[in-house]
Amino acid sequence: IPRERIRNFSIIAHIDHGKSTLADRILEQTKSVPLREMENQILDDMDLEREHGITIKARAVTLVYTAKDGLDYIFNLIDTPGHVDFNYEVSRSLAACEGAVLVVDATQGIEAQTLANTYLAADAGLEILPVINKIDLPSANPDRVKKEIEDVIGIPAQDAPCVSAKTGLNIRDVMEQIVHLVPPPQGDAGAPLQALIFDSYYDSYRGAVAHVRLKNGTVHTGDVIHMMATGCDFTVVECGYMRATSFEPTGVLQAGDVGYITASIKEVKDARVGDTITLRDRPAEKSLPGYRAAQPMVFCGIYPADGAKYPDLRDALEKLQLNDAALSFEPETSVALGFGFRCGFLGLLHLEVVQERLEREYHLDLITTAPSVVYEITLTDGTAKHIDNPTNYPDPSTIAEAKEPIADAHIYAPSEYVGNIMELCQDRRGVFQNMQYIDTDRVDIHYRLPLNEIVYDFFDALKSHTRGYASFDYELAGYEKSRLVKLDILINGEPVDALSFIIHEDKAYARARKMVEKLRDKIPRQLFEIPIQACIGGRIIARETVKALRKDVLAKCYGGDISRKKKLLEKQKEGKRRMRKVGSVELPQDAFLSVLKLD
Ligand code: GTP
Repeated sequence: IPRERIRNFSIIAHIDHGKSTLADRILEQTKSVPLREMENQILDDMDLEREHGITIKARAVTLVYTAKDGLDYIFNLIDTPGHVDFNYEVSRSLAACEGAVLVVDATQGIEAQTLANTYLAADAGLEILPVINKIDLPSANPDRVKKEIEDVIGIPAQDAPCVSAKTGLNIRDVMEQIVHLVPPPQGDAGAPLQALIFDSYYDSYRGAVAHVRLKNGTVHTGDVIHMMATGCDFTVVECGYMRATSFEPTGVLQAGDVGYITASIKEVKDARVGDTITLRDRPAEKSLPGYRAAQPMVFCGIYPADGAKYPDLRDALEKLQLNDAALSFEPETSVALGFGFRCGFLGLLHLEVVQERLEREYHLDLITTAPSVVYEITLTDGTAKHIDNPTNYPDPSTIAEAKEPIADAHIYAPSEYVGNIMELCQDRRGVFQNMQYIDTDRVDIHYRLPLNEIVYDFFDALKSHTRGYASFDYELAGYEKSRLVKLDILINGEPVDALSFIIHEDKAYARARKMVEKLRDKIPRQLFEIPIQACIGGRIIARETVKALRKDVLAKCYGGDISRKKKLLEKQKEGKRRMRKVGSVELPQDAFLSVLKLD
């Protein structure tokens, strides 16, 4: 099939608007999967993704479509992750395409990620084909949604196919538009090789598999390739197309193609998303634009609940990292929690996904400390520091200036919730930018919000303030000077490092009160009185006391039923095992967790 009949495209959408379902229908229409092998949603192939209902890693498949003109076309369908945490991966996937199918739910209209993804596609210079989905639903309003697309995004939408990805209605129209509206790839197969890695994953048999889009040049099995950003060389073991359920080795890939390359690469770190592959012996002059090392934005400590599981936790993190170049971790020790790791993530969702995989796939019981962002501190002696762990926050008297990351946030919601949303954003130190009506009853509210107010529990709060109707998207917009303090918690006079965190001065008092009260309720009475104090740089700003008590577990046993006594003592022992000793005080595990969930 000649180059003019290749179509490289992505499907972009807000979460749940039907991207994966549409991809499945396209796979069916191209008969690329024998029906008996057809499992629903092949493109999202991780269990966890299914449960979260989101796509985490990009995937690509090569399909052959016989169009109404009777000709066969090669469709390279490149799946993109739908969440803001993975924006960089989305943008690399889009850079591998010439077109984007923009799916909009006919019952919902444009949402935060509809717009965020559309901007990424427009930045990549793609042809955008709007598709109105879910028209089988009674509440569908395709005309309203078309108008929204024209008004808000500013692209024509009158000819947008109205489809049901669920029933398969009008899917052929989408395929024909891809044939007629997405331009074929450009590029020179004779030029030096430039292949963009837009995805990579670890396969225990092949090592790292790089998904690539060839912009120029040709690559063969046996060629020595050179990774332009990381500087490593490898020999190509296999290259070819990814079909829906298998690899199809072809021995060669050319400009315009989308396919895979394996080269005994041990870790995905050496086949980084965004890097350019060229040939060692005939290198390209320039790498393709846009490479960026994944930059963790949110950090937290992860500790095994059972200290003996530390080596298991390290193994599990190493395994996850093989497949996730954006995950970073290094050992750290906490007085309260023992040995664990300081882990860095792209965002909150990324953190949640990793945490869940550790618990589910590696059966680890974890204690996670409060998420923290990275602060930029300048000391009075002029040195600059990046602080991602409250424990390392310098003494306030040595700080000349503290800066915190600020996000540009867009919230989309029905207009009846504007009051609630503004109240929430104001409470989170947000600065109102502007507000725009998308249609008569929906608005786009634009705020600047400190990232540390978002990472905590902003999503949950937003949902409860809008009964689940709001959608949200943010982007880092730089650093701003701020009045930050480190809040420490002392239990029986001993600082508990795992409970320290950095907070804006104005919010410190309220937060300190809440924390000490919560801890008072969670810490069981012990043989002596336990003061719980919150302080900023040695100044105590809140205090509670856990009264002393002689805890006699046998008090309930009158008479001499020895087996019952034994049982109670056993139970007490079990309870003790789950305690953390801080100085002379036993702290139950859920005391740590409870302070992370204050509101
Ligand atoms: P992410 O992978 O989370 O980004 O979501 P997605 O955009 O891939 O959405 P997905 O395809 O998983 O669909 C979300 C939900 O909408 C599923 O429950 C689908 O069954 C349903 N759905 C998708 N298309 C249609 C449609 O045309 N009609 C109806 N009624 N439901 C649909």
